[in-house]
Amino acid sequence: MSATIISGTETAKAIREELKQEVTDLLVKHQVVPGLVTILVGEDPASQSYVAAKNKTAHALGIHSEQVTLAKDTSEADLLALVAKYNQDPKIHGILVQLPLPKHINETKVLYAIDPLKDVDGFHPVNVGKMVLGEQCYLPCTPHGILELLLRSGVQTSGAEVVILGRSNIVGKPMANLMLQKRPAGNATITLCHTRTKDMAEHCRRADIIIAAVGVPKLVTADMVKEGVVIIDVGVNRIGMSESGKAILAGDVDFDSVKEKASFITPVPGGVGPMTITMLMKNTVQAARQAAGLL
Ligand code: GUN
Repeated sequence: MSATIISGTETAKAIREELKQEVTDLLVKHQVVPGLVTILVGEDPASQSYVAAKNKTAHALGIHSEQVTLAKDTSEADLLALVAKYNQDPKIHGILVQLPLPKHINETKVLYAIDPLKDVDGFHPVNVGKMVLGEQCYLPCTPHGILELLLRSGVQTSGAEVVILGRSNIVGKPMANLMLQKRPAGNATITLCHTRTKDMAEHCRRADIIIAAVGVPKLVTADMVKEGVVIIDVGVNRIGMSESGKAILAGDVDFDSVKEKASFITPVPGGVGPMTITMLMKNTVQAARQAAGLL
């Protein structure tokens, strides 16, 4: 058996078409233009390319976007002042500070400074708390995108054994939380593996769905999965450079071997990545609606 490829590119395209229409309606009917600011500190090439992709997508959908790039030695105080400025800016409905931040800046402090109503990443503790309680809030973009991929692919999650690899605040922890809730793409039984897990392969072998978000290229191999498993690969690992100078990417899953046993699998690139950006746009449009009293 060879797996059905879940195309994040195609799914993202469909959702973006819906969003584009929504942005047009907001403008025509309510004179509202959603606004997003992305703030990048430093010159990390991966972060630069993510931020560029976010701004390009915003622009294509008719969302007003501002891109701020700060030197890597920018002080924490200056970054906090910038966040405070955008908290007050009525043109801006969503504020995204690209992570990771340089070591001298306290990431938690910066995320806490963002107005929760403008926290389109869903990283502020108010939004994290609401998410855990199952209340309406901005959901973190990558887990939200994965839920959409599972739903739109018709993958059954209710009662499924889901094994999540990686306990990051951005993916692993919120993913585990969302999938155990009584909600669409939820109701699963969750195992969260991390660096201290004794036998990760053994957990993987009994999984109906594996979500890999550890940042280790090709960690999950065919001998570690059962026939018919659903694979969601969040890893974006740069494993080399092509002759034309483009990064060669690999996921956390050994795609070529695992796809022969899986029923569904996401590719890298073109899987989860485009969905993350699309969910950011969805949250930004929601933020603009909320600010305009249209929710
Ligand atoms: N770094 C990696 N993923 C993300 C994300 O979803 N949001 C932000 N702000 N930074 C990231």
